Amino acid sequence: MDYENRYATYQNAVEEYLDHLFTEEKPYDRLYEAMRYSILAGGKRIRPVLTLEFARLGGIDWRLALPYACALELVHNYSLIHDDLPCMDDDELRRGKPTNHRVYGETLAILAGDALQPEAFRLIAQAPGMSAESRIDAVEVLAKACGADGMVAGQVLDTVYDVEDVMGLTNLIRLKTGAMISGAAELGCAAAGMSKEKRAQAVVFADQLGLAFQIRDDVLDVVGDETTFGKPIGSDKEEGKVTFVDVLGLDGCNQEVEACTNRAKAAVADWEDHDFLWELADRMVGRKS
Ligand code: IPE
Ligand code: IPE
Ligand code: MG
Ligand code: MG
Ligand code: MG
Repeated sequence: MDYENRYATYQNAVEEYLDHLFTEEKPYDRLYEAMRYSILAGGKRIRPVLTLEFARLGGIDWRLALPYACALELVHNYSLIHDDLPCMDDDELRRGKPTNHRVYGETLAILAGDALQPEAFRLIAQAPGMSAESRIDAVEVLAKACGADGMVAGQVLDTVYDVEDVMGLTNLIRLKTGAMISGAAELGCAAAGMSKEKRAQAVVFADQLGLAFQIRDDVLDVVGDETTFGKPIGSDKEEGKVTFVDVLGLDGCNQEVEACTNRAKAAVADWEDHDFLWELADRMVGRKS
């Protein structure tokens, strides 16, 4: 299967899985509505796609890994809802639509994010066809990826600390973005019971991909097109953030994205069937959305 078809197949499966969540009628239906507003708003699904591809590469039917993949996507969406709040990045546009709090208000946006977190762990706990051992493994992977030494640590460094040098910024983006992308890859490995050695290579691949992804995000925050990017341009500057663009300049960032991409590709170069991972990594360099 070629890259586009495989990506679309994974993406459609993720959309369908997520569309079945939080559909029952409840006396608190505005909560479900706010959760569904974000999880079905047209994200690129790069993280769940990674989970599904690593599950496939590990030799299982990738569909079995959908609960793990979508669990991480729920956490990702909670992180974005909170990231856009006035007390964080104070943004009004996400995926070309008004941000969650602009539609539902801050209270419901915070609570929708709150609810998405435990629901993610429920999906893992209930994943059909996965052994108890694999599910415990997956819970630990996701908790580490999004927890106090993962994504949240990165968000804290990004919002309440002044990080201004390359080493500090690398650590920051490795946590705020890399941890969840690595977690996504590892969840696929956990689903497939991949060997320790291959799992370590998968994590190196995803770590470097995560760095490339966030540096490109910082570049697009400066030179992107709002309609294509789906987010406001200049948000980082407006929030007074120092990003890689300030430290390395645009050319330096482009070179760094390429270097990270090459390191990512090298980590899985020995894998028999690495074409999809390589193509995905290559697309980081010029991505516009
Ligand atoms: C946005 O991630 C947050 C960053 C880490 C830059 P994505 O660009 O993957 O967001 P969606 O889910 O596709 O909208
Ligand atoms: C990544 O950073 C955010 C999260 C880890 C949630 P950004 O703040 O740069 O992400 P965008 O640009 O708002 O998507
Ligand atoms: Mg942010
Ligand atoms: Mg933001
Ligand atoms: Mg950004």
